[in-house]
Amino acid sequence: MIEYRNITKRFGQDIAVNNLDLVLEKGSITMLIGPSGCGKTTSLKMVNRLVDPDEGDILINGTSIFDLNPVTLRRQIGYVIQEIGLFPHYSVFDNVATLPRLHKWNEEKIKDRVHTLLDMVTLDSSYADKYPLQLSGGQRQRVGLARALAADPEILLMDEPFGAIDPINRLVLQQAFLEIQEEIKKTIVFVTHDINEAVKLGDKIAIMNKGELVQYDTVSEILANPADEFVENLLGQDRNLKALSLKKAKSYAVQEGYITAPENAEKAHIRKELEEKGLIIAYLLDSNGILKGRYYIDTKTKKPSGEHPIVRETAPFRVERNTSLTETLSKMLEHGEKRLPVVSRNGRLSGVINLEAIFEEVEQVGVSQGA
Ligand SMILES: Nc1ncnc2c1ncn2[C@@H]1O[C@H](COP(=O)(O)OP(=O)(O)OP(=O)(O)O)[C@@H](O)[C@H]1O
Ligand SMILES: [Mg+2]
Repeated sequence: MIEYRNITKRFGQDIAVNNLDLVLEKGSITMLIGPSGCGKTTSLKMVNRLVDPDEGDILINGTSIFDLNPVTLRRQIGYVIQEIGLFPHYSVFDNVATLPRLHKWNEEKIKDRVHTLLDMVTLDSSYADKYPLQLSGGQRQRVGLARALAADPEILLMDEPFGAIDPINRLVLQQAFLEIQEEIKKTIVFVTHDINEAVKLGDKIAIMNKGELVQYDTVSEILANPADEFVENLLGQDRNLKALSLKKAKSYAVQEGYITAPENAEKAHIRKELEEKGLIIAYLLDSNGILKGRYYIDTKTKKPSGEHPIVRETAPFRVERNTSLTETLSKMLEHGEKRLPVVSRNGRLSGVINLEAIFEEVEQVGVSQGA
């Protein structure tokens, strides 16, 4: 899909990128990581010809980018950077609509597209009329992502897009980003200097040092077999734990051990059904399948009548489909829950994940004690 062939870029005497050979797969996320100044941004910018190499060639779907008009080329590529550079005097709507308007789509189609994209990045339509200054950093990055996707480019170049976001919002954005990619399947090159982000988001990781490619492989292969000491140091001490963090809650979600009921279902009715099935948890869903609450039979206490009370909660703890097993585990431990509902980005219930399932996985991965 994207192929770097012997790419070298110098700035004066300094070599920024040295003889880079790299083939990036279609529809996957490649993370580009390495220390500051190792040539990540330069490598990225050569794809949309913001920087031209001194030597070598870059092919997209087999065609050299130097045979294409740079303007045409750039319109097929979405570009997302840190502190995004939204147009401050344009509304959110107009920012996202920028490229479709350049492509001269009709306004009706543009309107549809903008609203679809805002929904995808989980901003409701009330944001369309706001201006960038009225948004949080995380919301601005979402708008930036929506804008980059507006003309439906095949390729997305992202240069530390979440770098300036605080850790909690970064987790939320990473989660949303993975779900969006599940839908859109773009070819994404994503620069980061955060190894946890690389492990979490990448299908493959390309590690650079001083302008050279040090290792390029799947995340699990890199974790299992770091090429050298430099990569080992980059990965840090807890490689086993990182391997566990590659596994997602959705892969362990099961549709058993609970019942679902409409959010206005009667308590007595739910208790009866739970007792008949020998279960203790009922998740309450609205008509779109969105998790609105839960009932559970509190087996630790007894009423004077001898029966266990049934308790209603309006906002049960939950994890998202792409939440890693490590995060899921710490959420369970933190809240003292042995199972958590797994929901989509929109809050739709897709199953539950059980603590035992995580323990089984931990045993298989062989996470050492205290890791
Ligand atoms: N326009 C430029 N003029 C001169 N030197 C440049 C230019 N752009 C980049 N360089 C140099 O090229 C090298 C690679 O820079 P690049 O921006 O690709 O690094 P990076 O890996 O993205 O770093 P960071 O993590 O800090 O963003 C650096 O030594 C940098 O100083
Ligand atoms: Mg950079």
